[in-house]
Amino acid sequence: MSNIEITKNILTARFDAINPDSIDEYISHNGYSALKKSLLKTGEEIINDIKTSNLRGRGGAAFPTGIKMEAVLKAYGSPKYIICNADEGEPGNFKDRYLMEKDPHQIIEGIIICAYATDIKHGYIFIRGEYINAINIMRKALEQARVKGYLGDNILDSGYSFDIEIYTGAGSYVCGEEFALLVTIEGKPGRSTYKPPFPTTSGLYNKPTQINNVETFCNIPHIINMGGEEFSKIGTSSSTGTKLISLSGNIISPGLYEVELGTSIRDIINKLGNGIPNNRKIKMVQIGGASGPIIPENMLDIKLDTKEMKKLDLCFGSGAIIVMDDRIDVLDILKRITEFFHHESCGKCTPCREGLTQMLILLDRFTDGIATTNDLALLEILMETMNQASICGLGQAAPIATQKVLEYFREEFTNKICSTDS
Ligand SMILES: Cc1cc2nc3c(=O)[nH]c(=O)nc-3n(C[C@H](O)[C@H](O)[C@H](O)COP(=O)(O)O)c2cc1C
Ligand code: SF4
Repeated sequence: MSNIEITKNILTARFDAINPDSIDEYISHNGYSALKKSLLKTGEEIINDIKTSNLRGRGGAAFPTGIKMEAVLKAYGSPKYIICNADEGEPGNFKDRYLMEKDPHQIIEGIIICAYATDIKHGYIFIRGEYINAINIMRKALEQARVKGYLGDNILDSGYSFDIEIYTGAGSYVCGEEFALLVTIEGKPGRSTYKPPFPTTSGLYNKPTQINNVETFCNIPHIINMGGEEFSKIGTSSSTGTKLISLSGNIISPGLYEVELGTSIRDIINKLGNGIPNNRKIKMVQIGGASGPIIPENMLDIKLDTKEMKKLDLCFGSGAIIVMDDRIDVLDILKRITEFFHHESCGKCTPCREGLTQMLILLDRFTDGIATTNDLALLEILMETMNQASICGLGQAAPIATQKVLEYFREEFTNKICSTDS
């Protein structure tokens, strides 16, 4: 942990060094070398390397990638599918857009290696519909990869055939959730469902399916090239590798940064983001985007480490960091976040659909100055019910920001209570 380097460019190493429209430039920068190595290995060997690397998914839930791949490999059913989740609807996140626009072949190479390891013949990249530039770049890159023989029939004379199709989203946040995403590709309304079964055994068209985030796939060629053991030395024991951070809000230098896992949030804000403009003070920071927790300034020394953060019931999710200075109106922020989820809820389950409506009514009572102690108690019970009983992560995570504000800034609510119920 003591040797953690704040800036560590692995996934972003080729950004601005190559023309993203040129497969030849990617190849001349060590591109597709990991695929060539992989085609000489068995699927089990590749998966073991990824398991050794301890890579966890970068889409938010931090699930171990090697274990997911092993489950797909062992799952009964054919054909199997692989999907790259590039929906990136989480407010505050913009890392996947950069990865697609700056180094598209890194993603494609990662997907092909995983597909080969799990013996999958057909893949999709599900891209957020608003990302027109990224969609065009990815389309062009796929075509170039086909021409060079990295995709299509008999890839590099290995006897293995695989291709990738692009599917574009239609602007719904919930369609980034893996079950909603799957049914969208099947042509059905984008709604999640009960689980298990999980996509690894029953995914697209009820067949075993590997779904991973763009950034997760980008790590795969590097793991193959450096070896899982070497990769596992980067970061911390529970969070290996680097993380792309989408830094925004009241910050002097907002932008995309790649940091070694184990870096503290304070270092990201001060050393990469150059601190807060106009010498103001930080009031709070939201980690992981709208669905992530909010923490106060005195907790910024926390490190990007799954295990350490879990002890405080926190997580770094997909890596957005939104900085808010002391001018912000905390309840106004919570209302905006809740309105976003209310708008994006698919309406399938009551705890999320009705819970978000009731949350907004209760938050309004606080901002209108008519809240009572009962309103606060009701809000807390309601949010706990949403966490526990919503079908998918949208409803489960929607109250997290408000719950964390109640944990760390309770006075923001209690100061607005106008009467005590008997
Ligand atoms: C409401 C909601 C939206 C999500 N949106 C995305 C997304 O845009 N991109 C993404 O990779 N994962 C998203 N996820 C997480 C996916 O369901 C899934 O866990 C992820 O794609 C798995 O990839 P990983 O293991 O590489 O992290 C979302 C989850 C929820 C609950
Ligand atoms: S939690 Fe919300 S978004 Fe998810 S299924 Fe239920 S209503 Fe739909």
